[in-house]
Amino acid sequence: MKAVEIKPDIYWVGAIDWAIRDFHGYITQNGTTYNNYLIKDEKITLVDTVKHDFSSITIENIREIVDPEKIDYVVINHIEPDHVSSIESIMSLCPNAVIHISERGKKGLDRYFDTSHWQFKVVKNGETLKTGRYTLLFLETPMLHWPDSMVTYVKEAKLLISQDAFGQHIATASRFDDEFIACASQFELEDAVVDYYANILMPFGQLIKNKIGEIVKLGLEIDMIAPDHGVIWRKDPGKIIQTYLDLASGKCNLSIAIIYDTMWHSTEYMTTPIMQGIKDEGIDCKVIKLRATPMSIAIKEFWKARGCLIGSPTINNVMFPSVAEFLYHLSGLRPKNRIVGAFGSFGWGGGAVKEAYEMFKKMGLEIIEPGIQIQYRPTKEDRDRCYDFGRGFAKKVREYHIANS
Ligand code: FEO
Repeated sequence: MKAVEIKPDIYWVGAIDWAIRDFHGYITQNGTTYNNYLIKDEKITLVDTVKHDFSSITIENIREIVDPEKIDYVVINHIEPDHVSSIESIMSLCPNAVIHISERGKKGLDRYFDTSHWQFKVVKNGETLKTGRYTLLFLETPMLHWPDSMVTYVKEAKLLISQDAFGQHIATASRFDDEFIACASQFELEDAVVDYYANILMPFGQLIKNKIGEIVKLGLEIDMIAPDHGVIWRKDPGKIIQTYLDLASGKCNLSIAIIYDTMWHSTEYMTTPIMQGIKDEGIDCKVIKLRATPMSIAIKEFWKARGCLIGSPTINNVMFPSVAEFLYHLSGLRPKNRIVGAFGSFGWGGGAVKEAYEMFKKMGLEIIEPGIQIQYRPTKEDRDRCYDFGRGFAKKVREYHIANS
């Protein structure tokens, strides 16, 4: 896609990755974009690069606006390879450009590339760079989501180039939120925001709240937020900031996710009466089978719901491998403000439900005990017990939701 002017003399010059489905293990069913931005001012500045497979595309887009040899400054907000791995191609065209980067970013970049022949200006939080009519303000955002991360605010344009923050993994010809909503839907966009947040930013909720608070205190006027993935927020940038504050505070709807796997369907047969009990208690419920669902979608559904029931058969006295993998991955995301329980089937000796609760406790999640176990195949009496268990769980989730909203 050709370059797009997003503000006077500020251009999106990125690339759309329609085909990517596995982004370091995160399943990107809708592809993604790598956004970077060119500021055509007295000094020409490129903010971020793109994934290396797309370096020729961003260079072509830059060439539409200026000769890349004329680039004076390259800003690197973040050194993860999806944003920095075109840097060698870019620097080969403008070898005298000065790279502006955080101190931690420089240290990391030195590990990825031979940087000895490039010029650097290591910038600190609050430092500015005048490019002519525009002033760039660098704001470090350490651990959001890497130690090197920072964002760049273009003062006169009221533009926040926010790097990964506020991004979404969506490949689309729409460059702006309102364009996307007009041809797709508000729901699709909001779902993509939650998906991205749950899988990338969930561990950093408190840091996000603190950093947004700091930026608000600075009194920056922001009428556009341009992330490095997905669409640019111009319709109502305040709304996406509020959405992030809500996500970071653990806000969600009153709903329950049942996330399970099964060997010979016994645990699966438990899900239906449990779900019915939850529904009859008036709470929406979604059922997700792990081997039928990408991990990243299961993580998103976990985060969208206030309560979650994990279902696992016992195999060799422990959890089923896909359930163990899910909980292990979830523990790294450090979820908060969620309440959980467990259920499952066993043959001659249990273990899975007990192990699930041990993991919940290690994660510091609120739990509803005891879970429910059945032997071999659920009987009619077992299914009635499952129904009652679902209803009881739902009641407690409602109480927890009211207390935590
Ligand atoms: Fe899109 Fe942290 O990279």
